[in-house]
Amino acid sequence: MTPERFKTISELRIVLDRHRASGAEVGFVPTMGYLHDGHGSLIRAARSANDVVIASIFVNPLQFAPDEDLAAYPRDLDRDAALAADAGADYLFVPSVEEMYPFGPVLTTVAVSDLSERWDGASRPTHFAGVATVVSKLFNIVGPCRAYFGEKDFQQLAVIRRMVADLSIPVEVVGCPIVREPDGLAMSSRNIYLSAEDRAAAVVLRRSLDAGAESALSAGADPDTIESAMQAIFDAEPRAKLDYLAVVDPATLRRPDALGSEVQLLVAAYLGSTRLIDNCTVQRGS
Ligand code: PAF
Repeated sequence: MTPERFKTISELRIVLDRHRASGAEVGFVPTMGYLHDGHGSLIRAARSANDVVIASIFVNPLQFAPDEDLAAYPRDLDRDAALAADAGADYLFVPSVEEMYPFGPVLTTVAVSDLSERWDGASRPTHFAGVATVVSKLFNIVGPCRAYFGEKDFQQLAVIRRMVADLSIPVEVVGCPIVREPDGLAMSSRNIYLSAEDRAAAVVLRRSLDAGAESALSAGADPDTIESAMQAIFDAEPRAKLDYLAVVDPATLRRPDALGSEVQLLVAAYLGSTRLIDNCTVQRGS
């Protein structure tokens, strides 16, 4: 069934309050729309664990820098509604910018220091404050028991988990595995921007992670050797412009001096003007 759409906070709250009053648990999937099967997997996860499932579609201006792709960000609400319906959403929240930010520029923001400052945060200095602010606002609007985020945005997930812990927001944050195209490219709404040549070359991110994972599992591995193995894959792909690659501790997102039992490999690169990110966890045993 097509999910019922709400454009205003007040209308949505009336419906969700009624569900909560009857004891229903609300699962929430925040998105910026142009949904793909990665979003579908989040909605399906929410469907399997909650009585009511709501997805939001809001291209949040706060998380885009002035030179980024806010105006061009792909939008197709009817297509999104069909995908959300197939995946099992009951409701869609599709607020306007004016509904979310009625006073214009916000004076109150949420910033998760430290975790927001490295990697993507270094390349996009205002991004994570924009994400944390809109996600905390959406949590206040929706009041979910559980909220679902993709692990492709690994740093975003870490920032949101920390925000929820630091501010004691009563929601369980659920991370869901990356969904990939058959050739290994992580699904992303921004993949639509890629030319055919860049789309073919974009698999370099996944190949770099695979090389890093193989290196991480080899005897005597250390962060330098892993990063060299990842770098070598980029050196062989002239279409890709590397932003960063990193071996990090999954909890702190800091580069470790020595490898622990679990390491996280992160990568970000431009194909043409499209910036893509990817990551993987490597379990090295104890
Ligand atoms: O991951 C996204 O799509 C966005 O950053 C989010 C979490 C919906 C906040 O705008």
